[in-house]
Amino acid sequence: MKKSYYITTPLYYVNSKPHVGSAYTTIVADGLARFKRMAGYDVFYLTGTDEHGLKIYQAAREKGRDVKEFVDEVAGQFIDIWKKLDIRYDYFIRTTDPDHEQSVQAFFKKLMDKGDIYKGHYEGWYCVHDERYYTEKELGEGNLCPECKRPVQWIREENYFFRLSSYQEALIRHYEEHEDFVAPDFRRNEMLMRLKSEPLEDLSVSRSSFPWGVTMPGDEKHVIYVWFDALLNYITALGYGKEDDSAFKKYWPADVHFIGKEINWFHSVIWPAMLLAADIPLPRKVFAHGWLTVDGEKISKSMGNAIDPVAIAEEYSLDALKYYMLRDIKFGRDGDFSNENLKKRFNYDLANDLGNLVSRTVQMILQYRNGRVPEAKEPFTEEDLSIQESARGLYPSVERYIDAFDFTEALETIWKFIRRTNKYIDETEPWKLFKEGNGARLDNVLFHLAEAIRFAALLIAPFMELTARKIFDQLGCDPDEEMKRGFGGLSWGGVRGKTVRKGEILFPRLEDEKKKEKKSRPDKEQKKPPEGITFITYDDFARVSLRAGLIEKAEDIPGADKLYALKVRIGQETRTIAAGIKAWYSKEELPGKQVVVVVNLEPRKLRGIVSEGMLLAASTDKGLSLVTLDRKDDFFNGAAVR
Ligand code: ME8
Repeated sequence: MKKSYYITTPLYYVNSKPHVGSAYTTIVADGLARFKRMAGYDVFYLTGTDEHGLKIYQAAREKGRDVKEFVDEVAGQFIDIWKKLDIRYDYFIRTTDPDHEQSVQAFFKKLMDKGDIYKGHYEGWYCVHDERYYTEKELGEGNLCPECKRPVQWIREENYFFRLSSYQEALIRHYEEHEDFVAPDFRRNEMLMRLKSEPLEDLSVSRSSFPWGVTMPGDEKHVIYVWFDALLNYITALGYGKEDDSAFKKYWPADVHFIGKEINWFHSVIWPAMLLAADIPLPRKVFAHGWLTVDGEKISKSMGNAIDPVAIAEEYSLDALKYYMLRDIKFGRDGDFSNENLKKRFNYDLANDLGNLVSRTVQMILQYRNGRVPEAKEPFTEEDLSIQESARGLYPSVERYIDAFDFTEALETIWKFIRRTNKYIDETEPWKLFKEGNGARLDNVLFHLAEAIRFAALLIAPFMELTARKIFDQLGCDPDEEMKRGFGGLSWGGVRGKTVRKGEILFPRLEDEKKKEKKSRPDKEQKKPPEGITFITYDDFARVSLRAGLIEKAEDIPGADKLYALKVRIGQETRTIAAGIKAWYSKEELPGKQVVVVVNLEPRKLRGIVSEGMLLAASTDKGLSLVTLDRKDDFFNGAAVR
């Protein structure tokens, strides 16, 4: 039987729709769930919405809405946004689900019967926003909530209480026996210090001043405290207390609860005490991550699109957003979601390192081996063996980091391998091998490149599935098959016999904002174009990509009396270009000319050959002259022409 893995996010309040903060926890948890699925675990990934309590009740009333209608609408927005962000949860729980409500009541009754919930009264300072009481000592100046800085209210209620105080000793013991119960360790120490230094007070777990919550069994004037209700979702979602509790038996205890640091006390003290009271095993780990700011500022509604995860995904691509969140923000620490850094990661890691590696490799296999990934044969060089060894070591070290919830290092490890593979191209210089006719060596190099890319694609797949699928497709591997086989496909040689195909550019480089601005700013003294000329913008011009190339060979094309098939070397690649210049140039005089090539023209089939570009030339009915560079130095080869 497969090993199970159960991971949860907090249930988000439905008083506002998801923003980068809630998307952050959900995206990271999604990456972990996908990783574990690909590693062969039977995963249960749970998320959902927290829909009861005074805060939600008031939010709906302020908008003049029926409360149920209001929570239905916002819960729908969560589901919709998670779908757009391709979050693959196994279950979405809402605390207004009748099944959940019944299980909460049953749990509450169980604790009442046991004497762990009793009737009493409570008065104290209450923060409506955070749904909790504070002691005098905890309050800030002017009776403000220490968390959200809003004014607190003095409330007196007849309430039911949970005997939290009875569990202080047991909790301390649990912390001491399970050193990794709460992570990161500085968050664990915070909790343990507090547990050891102040007596735990019993917790008020019912409310009678408003009606929006789970009705208390046996006393209908009361609703159950929203946190008591919401925390139970982690077991009610698995059918705890129901006739069919097979999912609970299979997945509980949770492997990890992902939460933000501000709700650590609820998850690392109150929740385990509730479980202890009901004789239910405690979760294996609570991981309290840090808080994000956006471009240095606290997240607020007025930030609009800057905090809308869907808008960010649309601007940069979903995979870039996920990669950035996992790679740039150290999980566990506070971090800043910075658009500037996101762009840098996009251009450096995604466009340069990964995108180029894939496009260069596919291009070379197409050009030198008609698209077929060649066989690799002994003897292997030191560089080949180093690639093989790095590939084999990749999964164990990435898995180690994932199990430590260090997503930054996990991705950095994959990128080290990607950069190592790029370096392998520079070391082996396949274009030279091709020119020298060193076929056996070239076969080995191309094979190692393609296989290394397949390894990298498999390892990034949990975090960037769309990109991984595009890469599999370009390598001629079936994306569905690769995803199904998961990390079982990480044995060297899987790319053997595949036929690559050219695909779209994975991550088209983003332009610098400042440069973009400069370009689009109209010149103060803009002139009118002269007769017969239409002005274009610099951006229009920049869309044409011109490069210096060296003609290496000119050949006749059977049956074509105007065309040559030219082999033109542009930087590290050699292209075939059909050029209609036969009437004006002999085959012999062309090699050695440094010409200007339009390199981003769509390839076109001309007389049976695929032409990949166009040369610039001046032409009239009297003659044709190629545009050539007036300096011959080889370092101009491949240079951009502007
Ligand atoms: O607390 N940075 O719900 P909530 C990082 N319903 N993460 C952030 C964030 C930020 N700026 N803002 C929000 C609740 N989050 C309760 C939970 S669980 C049984 C009940 C994430 O809508 C982070 O995971 O206020 C945080 O803990 C959670 O959203 C709070 O969501």
